Amino acid sequence: MDKYLVIGNPIEHSKSPFIHQQFAQASNQVISYGKKKLELEEFASFIKMFQRDGGKGCNITVPFKEVAFKLADELSDRAKAAGAVNTLILNEDGSIIGDNTDGQGLVGDLQNHQVEITNQRILIIGAGGAARGCILPLAKLKPKEIVICNRTVEKAQQIVTDLDSHIDIPLSSCALSDVSGTFDVIINSTSASLSNHLPAICSEVIGSAKCCYDMAYGDSETCFMIWAKDLGVKQTIDGLGMLVGQAAESFRLWRNVTPATEDILQTIRSQL
Ligand code: ATR
Repeated sequence: MDKYLVIGNPIEHSKSPFIHQQFAQASNQVISYGKKKLELEEFASFIKMFQRDGGKGCNITVPFKEVAFKLADELSDRAKAAGAVNTLILNEDGSIIGDNTDGQGLVGDLQNHQVEITNQRILIIGAGGAARGCILPLAKLKPKEIVICNRTVEKAQQIVTDLDSHIDIPLSSCALSDVSGTFDVIINSTSASLSNHLPAICSEVIGSAKCCYDMAYGDSETCFMIWAKDLGVKQTIDGLGMLVGQAAESFRLWRNVTPATEDILQTIRSQL
């Protein structure tokens, strides 16, 4: 039986084992998928041991995405752009491929919700790994422009410096307080909602959007979604679909099968 793991710290509440078992069942495959909590210094040796032991792949979550990036022998373009790896493919010849499926998870979820990206103005709030990972997949859909704003503006500037030459649409950065104008789609990639905080952006900007997407999720709407709704935004979406979507893309890389996500998404939502 092919073996997979999700590795993180903490990892107790990870939904990945459940999601991947559902994908496997729905596509008539038998896999084992477990979770493993590690310390940073154990990461590289553990992965090599798991690979020698027949492990076929891993999902990587906080705080290991950067060490996984460094460990991989080969990186996909989207992993290079993200500077982080959330999926490892462990080949039998001992080589390790690193990929990043987070951006595809986001783009797939936006498409499932019929959110138009092509020719639209996109604002990304936040400049951590989650923001970085979604720039390339979003840019492939040819938006009119992407603006990245962040509390620490230097991090947003760095993303523009690193990725501008890889994409052919206008990419710019600014501080949260300097965001102005109107945007069609606003994506909150910050961890602010998890602590019930709102990014300090002018409400007129938020209220101008057709769609506000929060990468966070919980058992009810996030504070960012509630804020956007109150300001008149018609469509607000949380990040649960992105979570299931990134898992589906990892599963596809490993198993060469694209799993259906709709039913599992509903099951997970009902369990929140
Ligand atoms: P991830 O890898 O999930 O993106 P991260 O790298 O820790 O996580 O990044 C978290 C992001 O959320 C950052 O952009 C952070 O802003 P700073 O770079 O200024 O720290 C942003 N963030 C977290 N809490 C925030 C808050 N209350 N208001 C605005 N931005 C916040």
